[in-house]
Amino acid sequence: MKVRISTKVFERENSIITWVNNRPVLVAKVEGRLYAMDAVCAHMGCALLTKVNGYTVTCPAHEAQYDIRTGQLIAKAKIRPEEGCETEKITPPLKTYQASETSDGFIELKMD
Ligand code: FES
Repeated sequence: MKVRISTKVFERENSIITWVNNRPVLVAKVEGRLYAMDAVCAHMGCALLTKVNGYTVTCPAHEAQYDIRTGQLIAKAKIRPEEGCETEKITPPLKTYQASETSDGFIELKMD
């Protein structure tokens, strides 16, 4: 799936949120490589509308942390409950996608 995001966004920011099939997807460029991961936190379902620090994505709600390369949870939320998302069952790792730049300057996500 070709996502119509100009790669120029990464001249100012290291990450962006886009919507694919009605779900937010976080796309980041780290050390020259593109990464993409579902952007719904497994804790309580908040969107991961956040910057990426190194490979670490920190949920703005309760600070659960994920590795954008793998979607693995690397730090639990700092508040209870530790039950899963209230709106849907999400179990880490969050889904990740291959992301690449196209020759015409856009980002392409490989979705299953
Ligand atoms: S919703 Fe993300 S840490 Fe709570």
